[in-house]
Amino acid sequence: MRLARGQTAVVTGAASGIGRALAHRFAAAGLRVVLADIEEAALAETAAQMAADGAEVLAQVTDVADADSVLALADAAYGAFDAVHVLCNNAGVGSGAEGRIWEHEARDWQWAFSVNVWGVFHGIQAFIPRMIAGGEPGHVVNTSSGDGGIAPLPTASVYAVTKAAVVTMTESLYAHLRAETTAIGASVLFPGPHMLRTGLWESHRNRPQRYAKQRPRRNPYRTLTQWEAAMKQAGREVAFTPVEQVAEHVVEGIGADRFWMLPASEHSDRQIRARAQSMLDRANPAYLESFILD
Ligand SMILES: NC(=O)c1ccc[n+]([C@@H]2O[C@H](COP(=O)([O-])OP(=O)(O)OC[C@H]3O[C@@H](n4cnc5c(N)ncnc54)[C@H](O)[C@@H]3O)[C@@H](O)[C@H]2O)c1
Repeated sequence: MRLARGQTAVVTGAASGIGRALAHRFAAAGLRVVLADIEEAALAETAAQMAADGAEVLAQVTDVADADSVLALADAAYGAFDAVHVLCNNAGVGSGAEGRIWEHEARDWQWAFSVNVWGVFHGIQAFIPRMIAGGEPGHVVNTSSGDGGIAPLPTASVYAVTKAAVVTMTESLYAHLRAETTAIGASVLFPGPHMLRTGLWESHRNRPQRYAKQRPRRNPYRTLTQWEAAMKQAGREVAFTPVEQVAEHVVEGIGADRFWMLPASEHSDRQIRARAQSMLDRANPAYLESFILD
């Protein structure tokens, strides 16, 4: 769809990282932006800064894991702006799971699924019927990750499983929108091609009590800065993609009605080929051997 001044974009996880960059980019294109996030103070700060810069924003504290909260978000968005054109189901968390997959706590799975998978579904459920009924052009962007969305990442398996689900959910959404011949497009976003400096490494800051860990972690959470320092010490340089570049990729992708928002990357292409080839050859997944650590 063609993005135009006066349209409305809704972004979940808008108070930090990629979501905040998306919100800024839509505002720069003249869109009104509905900012949704569970982290109240960061959300208020983002909204205040954007409003001071001249953007028309509405901030709504939202827990995407809660269907009613997302329905309330849709009510607020339609109440303020009459129509929604762009929906970014972007809020996401790392799971905090440790050890082997059979050692992960059920609550690690429940929390990550509640935000990364149910959160996307709740967005689809709350907004799509209204977007279809409105009859205007629209686009939905669901944030996956190369970790899981492209190939399994056994070192972060809970997260990867949720992100694989986002790909399949978005493929289904796309088919259903096409079957209804709506003017609404759908995309799955793989932020990158490199790592991003965002708050994802500190996702546990927003972990609700109902999914609290039932036993203490064996190792303390590592910050991105600590991880980066450890990589440097091991002689490995890490490349980062600016979040603004991801936002630009999304805006271009919406304009081009591109389903796969997958930035060019030899690394990703190698992973896709290796996995597809293993399936086509009915060969065991040797491409996972580099992950077999400790
Ligand atoms: N950072 C990366 O390297 C990377 C790579 C690929 C994909 N992603 C994905 O990008 C998306 C954005 O993450 P980010 O990297 O900007 O991290 P981030 O932590 O900076 O931003 C995520 C935002 O989601 C919010 N959030 C968490 N739980 C929520 C809930 N229940 N309801 C509403 N909001 C909630 C957080 O408060 C935060 O503002 C996520 O889906 C993440 O999985 C990130």
